[in-house]
Amino acid sequence: AHQVPDILSAEFAENPYPAYRVMRESAPLIWHEATKSYIISRYEDVERAFKDKESVFTTDNYDWQIEPVHGKTILQMSGREHAVRRALVAPAFRGSDLRDKFLPVIDRNSRELIDAFRHTGSADLVTDYATRFPVNVIADMLGLDKADHARFHGWYTAVIAFLGNLSGDAEVAAAGERTRVEFAEYMLPIIQDRRDNLGDDLLSTLCAAEVDGVRMSDEDIKAFCSLLLAAGGETTDKAIASVFANLLLHPDQLAAVQQDRALIDRAFAETLRFTPPVHMIMRQTAKEVEVSGGTIPEGATVTCLIGAANRDGSRYQEPDRFNIFREDLTTTTAFSAAADHLAFALGRHFCVGALLAKAEVETGVNQLLDAMPDIRLADGFDPVEQGVFTRGPQTLPVRFTPAKG
Ligand code: HEM
Repeated sequence: AHQVPDILSAEFAENPYPAYRVMRESAPLIWHEATKSYIISRYEDVERAFKDKESVFTTDNYDWQIEPVHGKTILQMSGREHAVRRALVAPAFRGSDLRDKFLPVIDRNSRELIDAFRHTGSADLVTDYATRFPVNVIADMLGLDKADHARFHGWYTAVIAFLGNLSGDAEVAAAGERTRVEFAEYMLPIIQDRRDNLGDDLLSTLCAAEVDGVRMSDEDIKAFCSLLLAAGGETTDKAIASVFANLLLHPDQLAAVQQDRALIDRAFAETLRFTPPVHMIMRQTAKEVEVSGGTIPEGATVTCLIGAANRDGSRYQEPDRFNIFREDLTTTTAFSAAADHLAFALGRHFCVGALLAKAEVETGVNQLLDAMPDIRLADGFDPVEQGVFTRGPQTLPVRFTPAKG
């Protein structure tokens, strides 16, 4: 029998894909003592947990997983409460709001970062661009003072450290909880002020939103903004870095995208399948359930391995090959966020920001390719993914002919 590596081991962090294969093929349901959870890895099992047609897989795990840092958000909610709360926030992330109000925000924040290095001939696409761009976009969408963007970035860093703290480091946990207090002290007065001075920004939209007579309290809005740091920041950050890492490692596909920018959409979708930013999402069982021939008891935590499911050979041909032209993957469109992979989850909690993420990636990749027509990896550099819960390159040094003018 194969030995299944521990998901908290260094070997797994370096390259989880061989372990994912072993799990999918010969251990599709395992108990993992360190995280006290059942791990599932097959596409059909993870898809079923996300779609949850039988009301078995709840998000009650988020009460301990994210509540200490964010407070109560839509991720912890279910049923009618979730539907109403989601309807309050969702319109801001699609359609005319996205097109008319937020595309200009995306465009200028990307341009500003690129202007800082396009004349130099070298950049680190992760530290100079990807880790900053989506967080700046969120702060700017919310209508926060530019002078506060650096503090906003600091909270972002603390929040994602808290969420990725699978081994339970006490200092990281304490820093996360301090962030909740500081973030509330900062945001609540701004929210109160915005209620009296509504503008065109996301915070104003959230203050004014009303569905079936329900409105968001200041605390609700603050918690949602806190969630956006992680949900909209780290994910899109890693997606952009991974799109470039994958393309730079496949020069023929990079050349195709350079020539036909409509392919950015496919490069994004295939990156989300092949190297998703979020590798694991948890759920909690409301009753006993059979999965892949085994039994998960009621009240158990279930770790759903998106990174493994997205490379399931029963779902995709040549699953371990990065191929933006694959036929078994359709892309998110401007009208529908449905995707043929699990990187945005599925069902009730399907990523509410999927179209915003797509707009950010399209704008960002287009502008970067324009600024660096002969982009290449720095000499001798090999991109490596890092992380367990979320994964992406931590550094991506590139070279290019400096822009003139
Ligand atoms: C939910 C991934 C970008 C906001 C989710 C979930 C996943 C995900 C996997 C489901 C979590 C669960 O079911 O437990 C991603 C990825 C992104 C991305 C891979 C980028 C490539 C964004 C952006 C925003 C956003 C840009 C907004 C600014 C949210 C919110 C939820 C969510 C608010 C909760 C939805 C709900 O509970 O109904 N995302 N996300 N995400 N995402 Fe995203």
